Amino acid sequence: MSSDLMRQVGEQANRHNPWPLYAQLRRDRVVPLADGSYAVGRYDDVLALLHDPRVSSDAHTLTDPGDRIVLDIAPFINRDPPDHGRLRRVATRFFGPPDSPGLVTGQEPEIRRQIDALISAFPESGEVDVVDHFAYPLPVAVICRLLGVPPADEPQFRVWAGQLVGALDAANLEDSEDAVKTRNEALLALFGYLGDLVKKHRDSPDGSMLSGLANDDEADAMSDMDLVVTSGLLLIAGHETTVNLIANGTLTLLRNPDTLARLRRDPGWVIPVVEELLRLEPPVQYLPNRAALTDITIDGTTIPKGSALTLLLGAANRDPGRFTDPDRFDPDRPDNQHLGLGSGIHYCFGAPLARLEVHLALAALASRLDNPRLTADPPPYRPSPVLRGPIHLPVTYDARRTG
Ligand code: HEM
Repeated sequence: MSSDLMRQVGEQANRHNPWPLYAQLRRDRVVPLADGSYAVGRYDDVLALLHDPRVSSDAHTLTDPGDRIVLDIAPFINRDPPDHGRLRRVATRFFGPPDSPGLVTGQEPEIRRQIDALISAFPESGEVDVVDHFAYPLPVAVICRLLGVPPADEPQFRVWAGQLVGALDAANLEDSEDAVKTRNEALLALFGYLGDLVKKHRDSPDGSMLSGLANDDEADAMSDMDLVVTSGLLLIAGHETTVNLIANGTLTLLRNPDTLARLRRDPGWVIPVVEELLRLEPPVQYLPNRAALTDITIDGTTIPKGSALTLLLGAANRDPGRFTDPDRFDPDRPDNQHLGLGSGIHYCFGAPLARLEVHLALAALASRLDNPRLTADPPPYRPSPVLRGPIHLPVTYDARRTG
């Protein structure tokens, strides 16, 4: 029998608390959904499928892609081997070791400067919206600088990014028809903008990632279209997710004053705190983009070849079969192999950058606001059930300290 639980996960009213729905989805190892696709939510199964070569990330392998985005030339998050590996390797040349060692860690002084500037602009006491004035502008500034996107263009692509992310999992959205139309228009607009930007980087290169990719003279350099979709992927993946980790993190710390107090005394503890946040409140709740390349049978249920498959990272991260007391926020828990950044060949490309930003951001917030507390709990959430996080997070505090 098919289930409508994923439709309920898609409902805005359940955004603040999808956990009971995930618990129901975990009751069976494979859940057939009303639209003919399948969902998997137990930790061991999700982990195994993330590493399974019978599972594709390429929408062209679906028998019926429905409302999913299907691009002739897709970014490497939506490609399979060998193209996936080739494109990811080329992108890595301009992002990390061995060709660009120290690029991410070298961002630290600039990230610290941005954090200081943002917090110093908060009122001396009173209320601030942590999303609008901190969690959003910080990652956007960092990814734009790294990629070579002029910060002045940000208001333009902020709208496209929201429309795109809002309808990643169109099948389970209310008003999906309008959302899909808007999403597809936003995608075209974003690609047009990025095509022009690539040309600019070719004419006048700077030290940015886009300049490096656009002027790459290695034999395996990206084609122009690959370059446009890859920069779109990095731009979107590089800010919608990190914004939500900072916002979900602030919310969780304010709900757990003892943890916040300890973080204030011991800023180095932020490392396990962020790993636990990636487990408990992952910004990427699920991966709706997998497909079965062949029939896959799990526990007597067959996922037929060509079917869509959703891997529920948020449910796997709270699987009581894997984590003791899974709904508890416990940064000291041992063996915290969460799936918040994925696993396998598509493991998050930007993980070192995301971790660096969020470590610095949460440690700074904890130390610089006196007696911070939530103004509204739960806060209002963004529309996307996939990239989940508050759209606003008003916080009241007694005083702001200097950095
Ligand atoms: C807290 C912030 C972040 C979270 C929670 C996150 C989460 C994830 C997850 C779960 C995946 C796996 C997707 C899949 O298996 O289909 C992924 C992939 C990816 N992420 Fe992130 N991400 C974050 C930040 C970033 C940043 C800052 C960047 C860019 C600099 C980035 C770029 C990517 C890319 C390009 C992929 C695709 C990798 C591939 O297909 O090989 N992410 N991310």
